[in-house]
Amino acid sequence: MSVREDFARERAIWPAHSELSQAGELTIAGVGVHQLAAEFGTPLYVIDEAEVRERAERIQSVFQQAAEQIGTEAKVYFAGKALLTAEIARWMHEAGLGVDVASGGELAIALAGGVPAAHIGLHGNNKSAAEIERAVAAGVGSLIIDSAIEIERIAHAAERVGTVQGVRLRVNSGVHAHTHDFLATAHEDQKFGVSIASAPALVARIRALPQLRFLGLHCHIGSQIFDAGGFAESAHRLLRLQKDLLAGGEVPELNLGGGFGIAYTVADRPTPIEQIAQLIASEVAAVCDELEIPVPTLAFEPGRWIVGNAGITLYEVGTVKPVALEDGGERVYVSVDGGMSDNARPALYGAEYTSRIVNRSSDVAPVLSRVAGKHCESGDVLVSEAQLPADVAPGDLLAIAATGAYCSSLSSNYNALLRPAMVAVSDGGARLIVRRETEADLLARDLGVLENHA
Ligand code: LLP
Repeated sequence: MSVREDFARERAIWPAHSELSQAGELTIAGVGVHQLAAEFGTPLYVIDEAEVRERAERIQSVFQQAAEQIGTEAKVYFAGKALLTAEIARWMHEAGLGVDVASGGELAIALAGGVPAAHIGLHGNNKSAAEIERAVAAGVGSLIIDSAIEIERIAHAAERVGTVQGVRLRVNSGVHAHTHDFLATAHEDQKFGVSIASAPALVARIRALPQLRFLGLHCHIGSQIFDAGGFAESAHRLLRLQKDLLAGGEVPELNLGGGFGIAYTVADRPTPIEQIAQLIASEVAAVCDELEIPVPTLAFEPGRWIVGNAGITLYEVGTVKPVALEDGGERVYVSVDGGMSDNARPALYGAEYTSRIVNRSSDVAPVLSRVAGKHCESGDVLVSEAQLPADVAPGDLLAIAATGAYCSSLSSNYNALLRPAMVAVSDGGARLIVRRETEADLLARDLGVLENHA
């Protein structure tokens, strides 16, 4: 198989506007990796801007159309934890999406990007008093209540600010989905949300407080989910609860969270988002019909689906080392200039990725390789089993696909590595949207630094 045929097989994994040239160079939105590496250095997060914007618009219109078919509306919030910079927050706002934030820091970034506070939702199972106060004062559209304790805390903040605060109640539906399957239990032993059984009393408490406006139920059943079954089951359970709650007042919205999966390798086959939206909508319509309740406005919080495949990480190969295996075979360790500090997912979750040498083509057959980072930790492996050309050499550029979600946002300074820059590419141009960290940044918070150090 030629390199380009091989790339075509992996097409869905790489950014929508990327290509592999005859010479084997990867270009994204018309910008080649040679130029990107020369201009911005490596490791580098590269984001296909048009793809992010298109996906944001597409997922919103898909859910809105599905909702319209059952006589309601859908709201889409980007889950900022997947990838949040002020610039990306702005793209989401321009595409018509709201933004979900999970901390005061994420709230600050979304606001700095110009997202109107009314289009922001604040999540978290342990929001601090300061985070609640800041969000309420900023006029955030909703706070998602995660435990009974928060009801009073948010009401007090709203009272101090002199406002009525919109809130949702996060319910643990007992459905937990992971990629291919879902598990439905009556009691789930995890930290998020309140039980279905406890929800009626909590909603009554929310409704009794004049500083709070109850917007509806929220649930999030997991991440990197490949089909609609878990969402449908969760919607079913929440709508039954919704029927009970309707006896005491309005329940205008139902927020089903995020979690829509993407392909990281050719083995991953997520159900197209159009089908997932259709299945969720028809389940909601059928259950509302059966329970004789009005169809609520639906809300969703996709993160990974919008940004995951639109991002790659570009590295430079530093060392190449063959290692003998027990079975007599050999594996080539290819070490790059980043690692678990810019992509913790393989080490944290055993996540699998697709990688390629992207600065040239090679006629040499691929060999079993492992892409490792440069950290002082043996678990610092980015791609456990890669097929890279046998002539891979120091100075080659290696790209890992689908690093747009949960890589920059989970990045660290382990081993005092400098966090990569992030570049947005579109229409043949590249624009720095987050600059590379510097040693001065690292030392800026360290109060033990000698004044005249070298
Ligand atoms: N809404 C809520 C309340 C969430 O907790 C999450 C993700 C989302 C929406 C967005 O989920 P998405 O559409 O991106 O799957 N670090 C892990 C993923 C953690 C997801 C946490 N919550 C990873 O790298 O796979």
